[in-house]
Amino acid sequence: MTQAQPQVIADYKPETWGAFINGEYVAAASGRTFPTFNPGNGEVVGHLAECDDEDIDRAVRAAVAAFPAWKKKTGAARAKSLMKLAQLVEGHGAKLAELESLNAGKPIRDSKAIDAVTAIDALEYFAGMATKIQGDTIPVPGPYINMTLREPLGVIGGIIPWNYPLLQAIWKIAPAIAAGNTVVLKPAEQACLSVMYLGKLIQEAGIPAGVVNIVPGYGAVAGLALVQHHLVAKVMFTGSTETGKRIAAEAAATLKPVGLELGGKSAVVVYEDAPIDQAASIAAMSIFSNQGQVCTAGSRLFLHEKIHDQVLEKVIEAAKKVRLGYQMDPVTTMGPLISAKQKDRVLGYIASGKKDAKLVYGGEEPKGLEKGFFVGPAIFDQVQNSMRIAREEIFGPVLSVLTFKDEGEALALANDCPFGLAASVITRDVGRAMRAAQAFEAGNVWVNAWGAVSSMAPYGGYKNSGYGREMGFAVMREVTQEKSVWVNVR
Ligand code: NAI
Ligand code: MG
Repeated sequence: MTQAQPQVIADYKPETWGAFINGEYVAAASGRTFPTFNPGNGEVVGHLAECDDEDIDRAVRAAVAAFPAWKKKTGAARAKSLMKLAQLVEGHGAKLAELESLNAGKPIRDSKAIDAVTAIDALEYFAGMATKIQGDTIPVPGPYINMTLREPLGVIGGIIPWNYPLLQAIWKIAPAIAAGNTVVLKPAEQACLSVMYLGKLIQEAGIPAGVVNIVPGYGAVAGLALVQHHLVAKVMFTGSTETGKRIAAEAAATLKPVGLELGGKSAVVVYEDAPIDQAASIAAMSIFSNQGQVCTAGSRLFLHEKIHDQVLEKVIEAAKKVRLGYQMDPVTTMGPLISAKQKDRVLGYIASGKKDAKLVYGGEEPKGLEKGFFVGPAIFDQVQNSMRIAREEIFGPVLSVLTFKDEGEALALANDCPFGLAASVITRDVGRAMRAAQAFEAGNVWVNAWGAVSSMAPYGGYKNSGYGREMGFAVMREVTQEKSVWVNVR
C-alpha cells in the first residue's frame, strides 16, 4: 500500500441546500439544517435541510398532485425528458463527479470514469423503456378477450445509501418516472450533495414540478415518515439488511409493497485450474473497489488448496499497489471510508479477525491521514466460514480467505451464508463454471469476472440480500401494476 499526498480543492465553498420539493429548493418547515462532511478530512462541505414528517408530507403531496398529468403524458414525451436529463448529467459530469468524491470519499478517477458515466447510461436506457411498457392479450376461453394494462403505481418513495449516491438516485428515479410514477427520494444523510445537485438538472430538463422530489434528512425521521406515509404507493430501498427488515415491517401497516436491495457477503470461488493472475486481479478488485463499500463486495475469497499460496501472494501484491489517500488526488485508488462510525466498525472487524484468523496484510492504521476516515486494505488468511469476519457484512476493504479441497465443499461453503447478493467463480472449465452458476444461492453471478452491472440486466438479491429487482425490464415490473381487462365480444 502506497500513500498519495493530501491535496485540497482550494476553491470549494460549502453551500446550503434546501429540500427539492415541487420543483423548488425550500427550507425545512422547522428551519433546521444538518451538516454533511468530507470524509477525507472531516471538514463540513455543505448544509442540508433537515426534513421531518411535515416536509415529507409536503413532498408526497406534491408528488401526488403531479402524478395524473405525468401519467397521462405519452411514453415518448417522458422519454424525451429523460434524454434531456441524460444530456444535462453528461454536461455536468465533472461537477457531479467532484461532489460525489468530495462527499462520499470515492477516488475522483472512479467518480469520473464510473459513476458519472453509468448515470448517463441508466438515464438513456430507461428513457427507452418509457415507450416499451405494454400489456398482453390472453386467449381466454368463452366469449371474451382478455388484455392486460400495465400502469404506474403512483408515488414511489426511494431511500438510498451513501456508497453510490448519484447512481442509486438515478436507479430509483429513472425507471419510476419512465413508467409514469412520481418520486419522493430520501438520500443518505452522510452523502447527498450530488443528489441535491441532480435536482437542479431535473429542473433544467423541464421535468414538471413535483414529478421528482428530493428530501434530505435522517433515516429514523425523514426515511421513516416516507415509509409510513399513506399516500406513498411503494418503497424502493437500498441499504443495510437491518434497516430493510425494519422498513418492510413498517410498510406492512399501510400494506405498501417494498423493493429491497440489501447487504451481502459475496463469495469469489477460485478453482485449481484458474489463471492465477486473472483470479488475483478479480479478487483484489472485488474487495478494494470503492474502499470495499460495495454491496456485492467479494469479501469471502475461496481458494482451492493447490493454488491458494500463489493467488494469495498476488492478491497481497495488488493490495500493496493500492494508493490510499485523499480522494480528490487523481492518483488515489482508495479513498476514506464514509464516516468515523464506519471506520470504527471496520476496525472492530479487523480486531475480531486478528483474534480469530491470521492477518497476512495491513490491519494497522495508516499514518499521515488521521484527519480523514482512512482504513487501508486488510487480508486475513485461514478464515473459517463460521467466524464473524466471514459471516457479517463489513463494508470495508477487509478480505477473508478460506481454503477448499473440492467443488462440492466450495459451493456448500459459498452458500452457507445468510446473504445471497452475488457470487463469482473463476475457472477455465465451462461445465464447472455453469454448475457453480446454477448452484449459487445469489441473485447475481459472475463467471471469470466480478462486478459487471448494466442497466439492461436484472440486479437483486436472494435470501437476506432482499427481494425485488432493479434494472432491465425486471424493474419496470416493479414500478408498475398489471390490470386485467375482460371484454365480452358477443
Ligand atoms: P442504512 O441501511 O441504515 O441506511 C440506508 C438508508 O436508509 C439511508 O438513507 C438512511 O437514512 C435510511 N434509513 C435508516 N434508517 C431508516 C428507517 N428506520 N426508516 C427509513 N429509512 C431509514 O445504513 P447505514 O446506517 O448508513 O449503514 C449501516 C451499515 O449498513 C453499514 O456499515 C454497512 O455495513 C451497511 N450498508 C450496506 C449497504 C448496501 O448497499 N449493502 C449500503 C449502506 C450501508
Ligand atoms: Mg442505519
